Amino acid sequence: MLSQMNLPSTIILGGGASRELVPQLQRLSAQRVLVVSDSFLQKTGVVGRILSELETAGIKASVYAGVQPDPTVANVMEGWDLLRTCQAEVVIALGGGSPIDAAKVIAVLAANPSPVRQYEGYHRIPRPGLPLVAIPTTAGTGSEMTRVAVITDTERDVKMMLLDAHLVPRIALVDYELTLTMPASLTAHVGVDTLTHGIEAYISRRANSLTDPLALSCVELVSRNLLTAFAEPNHCAAREAMMTAASLGGMAFANSSVCLVHGMSRPLGALYHVPHGLSNAVLLPTVTRFSLPGAPERYAELARRMRLAGADDSIETAGDALNLFLLELNRKLGIGRLRDVVSVDWPTFSSRMDAMAEAALASGSPQNNPRVPTADEIKQLYREAW
Ligand SMILES: NC(=O)c1ccc[n+]([C@@H]2O[C@H](COP(=O)([O-])OP(=O)(O)OC[C@H]3O[C@@H](n4cnc5c(N)ncnc54)[C@H](O)[C@@H]3O)[C@@H](O)[C@H]2O)c1
Ligand SMILES: [Fe+2]
Repeated sequence: MLSQMNLPSTIILGGGASRELVPQLQRLSAQRVLVVSDSFLQKTGVVGRILSELETAGIKASVYAGVQPDPTVANVMEGWDLLRTCQAEVVIALGGGSPIDAAKVIAVLAANPSPVRQYEGYHRIPRPGLPLVAIPTTAGTGSEMTRVAVITDTERDVKMMLLDAHLVPRIALVDYELTLTMPASLTAHVGVDTLTHGIEAYISRRANSLTDPLALSCVELVSRNLLTAFAEPNHCAAREAMMTAASLGGMAFANSSVCLVHGMSRPLGALYHVPHGLSNAVLLPTVTRFSLPGAPERYAELARRMRLAGADDSIETAGDALNLFLLELNRKLGIGRLRDVVSVDWPTFSSRMDAMAEAALASGSPQNNPRVPTADEIKQLYREAW
């Protein structure tokens, strides 16, 4: 199998990296830009700081701050309308995965006709769009590094996954200082999303020699820093490590793949609006226990890198240690069970399980899992996670 990497051509990582925006835009000779963000970041002044830097440099900026968590096709179309009227030459994404994903698709529509739905799936976007600068404020989805965008089609209640090299940001400015304001619960949810990216990229059937070192570094950083970032929000070293882990996780999974956790997570987001990281978190221990027999050595290697097992421990011991760690991690982060995060009772949830299993399989992610589940096994896993 050939390995392929698609990554931003410029990545600047570290405290203060977001202040490199103006020099980077000047290198692109950009005079008009569209900033895509959300209402919270606009209210708290994060957008304003960027706008004043642009204004000082004489760069004309328009703002679309209407992106909602789990961005919709409507969000993309609103941003695209504004892009057309303001004639921006570069799109700037400022926010968590939601604004970054919306901005990716807005930028692509500059050269590809709507509707967005036709680009769902793999490698379906014919032409490159406008250059995108991604500035993440969560640590996180790693979307700043990826060729993936997740956009909800509210007409079908489906989270569409678009994967295409034309979705990779041109520039990623990865500044952990922007994450210091994340409350504990958001830190926990996006942190487990990062961990899931590292784990799934490594155990995927598409894992390769380019993504393996990135995935292992990702899980190592998360295992050593997530609980500190959760308990001490101003702990700069832990925040910086988590931001690095998020980017490494994004680089790894987008060029390997995600697997069953993300596949089963998808309908939980679309139907019950469970935040992406949280829906991964409530599934991760159960799905790991199921998947482990499909790649015991790989899971053992993850456990070793996370220092849950030593070089002399058996593969079984290392796997058990990983299972235990994931359960304990959720407990320490205050993450409950599946029944605690969906707003319905068991009879309602179970009546939709056929459609959920189908949506999970249709995402394509479960097929990359080391142990590929049937629809019945997926339903059984939801039951166990309940
Ligand atoms: N494209 C990819 O590669 C990829 C990968 C994983 C997930 N995703 C998608 O990303 C989305 C989730 O993104 P997310 O988890 O980063 O959350 P998000 O962008 O949806 O933001 C969640 C909330 O956190 C707030 N927030 C953002 N930064 C903050 C900060 N620094 N301090 C305080 N609050 C802050 C936002 O305003 C929002 O209210 C989902 O739609 C998911 O499907 C995409
Ligand atoms: Fe994810």
